[in-house]
Amino acid sequence: TRNGVDFAVADLSLAEFGRKEIRLAEHEMPGLMALRREYSEVYPLRGARISGSLHMTVQTAVLIETLVSLGAEVRWASCNIFSTQDHAAAAVVVGPYGTVEEPKGVPVFAWKGETLPEYWWCTDQMLTWPAGDGPNMLLDDGGDATLLIHKGTQYEAAGVVPAAEEDDSEEWTVILDLLRSSLESDKGKWTKVGAGVRGVTEETTTGVLRLTQMAAAGELLFPAINVNDSVTKSKFDNKYGIRHSLVDGINRGTDVLIGGKVAVVCGYGDVGKGAAESLAGQGARVIVTEIDPICALQAAMDGYQVARLETVLPIADIVITTTGNKDVVMAEHMAQMKHQAILGNIGHFDNELDMAGLARYPGVKRVNIKPQVDEWVFADGHSIIVLSEGRLLNLGNATGHPSFVMSNSFSNQVIAQIELFTKYKEYDKEVFTLPKHLDEKVAKIHVEALGGELTKLTKEQAEYIGVDVEGPFKPAQYRY
Ligand code: NAI
Repeated sequence: TRNGVDFAVADLSLAEFGRKEIRLAEHEMPGLMALRREYSEVYPLRGARISGSLHMTVQTAVLIETLVSLGAEVRWASCNIFSTQDHAAAAVVVGPYGTVEEPKGVPVFAWKGETLPEYWWCTDQMLTWPAGDGPNMLLDDGGDATLLIHKGTQYEAAGVVPAAEEDDSEEWTVILDLLRSSLESDKGKWTKVGAGVRGVTEETTTGVLRLTQMAAAGELLFPAINVNDSVTKSKFDNKYGIRHSLVDGINRGTDVLIGGKVAVVCGYGDVGKGAAESLAGQGARVIVTEIDPICALQAAMDGYQVARLETVLPIADIVITTTGNKDVVMAEHMAQMKHQAILGNIGHFDNELDMAGLARYPGVKRVNIKPQVDEWVFADGHSIIVLSEGRLLNLGNATGHPSFVMSNSFSNQVIAQIELFTKYKEYDKEVFTLPKHLDEKVAKIHVEALGGELTKLTKEQAEYIGVDVEGPFKPAQYRY
């Protein structure tokens, strides 16, 4: 704690550099800046205590400071061990008006290269408010903060933390240890936090999947807004964001020429579509694997070969997973890859790649090349290059998605926070998406920022196609 701000970041002296990049990012995030202007006299988030778990990048710094400018108090942690940009974290702690000696910003608990126990400690700190009142809003990416509150509440009701959950991974061991010690030292903590939260706004596909599973089981403790399925989020961030940041991660990690190589993209959803385009744009020959015939057909129509991983492993130079599923590339697959082939994941969790199986593979040796780049050498002498230990490589090896696309995603986040904070009583404990007119509002700001001119409907045209002159312009089931 310094000047009343508690924090845990790598190096507060990086704040000046962070502030410069935040200033440049603000210009590239017109949606967030428009929301700051729109609400400059209203402070719709006054009284909100937002606990946020989302990659602590420069773009997220602009989100955090937008929430603050709308009246919220905020605490933050990253949602991934490798995704924090240390200068952004430092700048958020110092704040626009503070100094390193006298920080006046937001408590942040995040640094690049956390261990798993450190990661969950940071999540716990972000959820633990010094006055003891806890958060009344959650902003989550991937659902780890939501998970901790739900599991904590569940175990407090049972009076015991089980010896194991779901699997025997290191991650679950760490979570259970943390909850066991809070059950001993602060029984009732998570039940109280869960009861105090008005709602959660969730950023990504994987977090939304967890929320819908909890809602279906009747376990959700508070309402949720699915930000991911705003069209201006998943059809932009997941696709065009990845198109930018996937090759950025591969280049910074390896600097291997992508042109002419065979690149396999596992999964052809929104992220897979951006990934394939990203690699094809560099001149790679892209092959797609899919379980869903509709997405497989889309890949084929877009000009990519559709194949099973097993069929194409022997020729693949680069393999990227984008499925949000587990066990997609197993250790046996890795062992069959070409010498110095590159393997990386860009889906939310590292379980797409069987990293545990690789570490146990007979005779395998890990040679660290540099942070977030490892060469794994097999007993026969051939090796593969694994990026970010199987965690999302665009944030581990590069700096994630650029500001302009994140301005779309984060505008939806801010709108969703205002909606749930102010109208939580109107929402059941289920998962909702924002109405289409707000999606169109976010898009309009960004079209105009790019100098685009929107065509205006005449009254007669609007009647003819059955919409209002001011929108929404599409029915709910339209797929874009
Ligand atoms: P999506 O549901 O649109 O796409 C996933 C695709 O993978 C689906 O088409 C599905 O049929 C396919 N799939 C599932 N299992 C498969 C298997 N075993 N083999 C081949 N294909 C399989 O999801 P979306 O939005 O594309 O997100 C994917 C992942 O990326 C999620 O974990 C999401 O949270 C994450 N994400 C990561 C971002 C980043 O910056 N790294 C940004 C946005 C999302």
